[in-house]
Amino acid sequence: MKILGIETSCDETAAAIVEDGWQVLSNVVESSVTQHQATGGIVPEVAARDAAKKIIPALDKAMAEAEMTIDEVDAIAVTAGPGLPGSLLVGIETARTLAYIHKKPLVPVHHVTGHLCSNRLHREKPPHFPVIVLTVSGGHNELVLWQSDFSFEILGYSVDDSAGEAFDKGARILGLGFPGGPEISRVAEKGNEKAYKFPRPMEKSGDYNFSFSGLKTALLYKVQELQESGLKITGNVQADLAASFQEAICEVLSTKLFNAFKEFPDTNEIFISGGVSANRRLREMIFLRSEKMQIAFHYPEKLTYCTDNAAMIAGAAYWKMQEFTENQWDWREVRPFFTKDLS
Ligand code: KG4
Ligand code: ZN
Repeated sequence: MKILGIETSCDETAAAIVEDGWQVLSNVVESSVTQHQATGGIVPEVAARDAAKKIIPALDKAMAEAEMTIDEVDAIAVTAGPGLPGSLLVGIETARTLAYIHKKPLVPVHHVTGHLCSNRLHREKPPHFPVIVLTVSGGHNELVLWQSDFSFEILGYSVDDSAGEAFDKGARILGLGFPGGPEISRVAEKGNEKAYKFPRPMEKSGDYNFSFSGLKTALLYKVQELQESGLKITGNVQADLAASFQEAICEVLSTKLFNAFKEFPDTNEIFISGGVSANRRLREMIFLRSEKMQIAFHYPEKLTYCTDNAAMIAGAAYWKMQEFTENQWDWREVRPFFTKDLS
């Protein structure tokens, strides 16, 4: 089954075609990041206008790359939420129109479910369910028990900022560019992660929730203290701050992931997904620990599957269609949603 996926929940405008939930026939991602770099963060109105401009060319490109016409597509999938309302509507209304004109089933997909299923792209073999997934990006931060193809239980989530948001805000405090995650990661390569001691928020809270807004404030206070003592936040000082800040985020994420793995005795593997799963230090930290414990550790096959893309939405829709076979997937039923419910 070939599914056309559309994703416009934030600042990316993406279209892709995926066969049977894993074979990626095309994957087009158009970003508006350069426009947000000027403002140091995403302006929702700018992102939505950009999506409106790019969605049709992205669809054309996805069709051309897959060497297909829309008539050969079996179904259409679209991110229905959560996300920026204006951006979401661009994708949803485009998908509804296509489904109506071409008489195709239309499958609404939860954005986080897409990130979870990004770990199935390019992989014919399914995970050894049940598995634990840490899914972390700018807009969300969850620990999930993934029980079967399309069955998920959220174990915990961030009560305030997500890890990606902490990276983005932290980068701003350090005078780095947007998006902050790749910038902090790049600068941290030259830094000493033990140079500054930052809190590990909620590391020992006894649940699976996270909190990163206090950590960002701790970085802000440290930067102000250093500036008051006459130091400039550049060179080694900036690199040490970035490395220490990154270490604190990654350590909390990793600790909670392994806690969940240990506390759910039947789980077999661990996965990470979302934009922050591209982080080199996070991968290294989890890899070292999983190697010691002889646990299989996976992350998306390509970096483009970590950050927002439409292949993960088309992939998730396939597994959703297998689970809810009775559903008519009527385009009239598809509207934006903002719930945490992953189904
Ligand atoms: O999944 P994504 O593209 O969009 C959302 O669903 O939010 O994730 C974007 C987030 C941004 O906060 C960005 O700073 C972060 O992922 N990110 C990273 C890295 N690459 C992207 N964070 C840390 N290290 C990276 N290498
Ligand atoms: Zn995302």
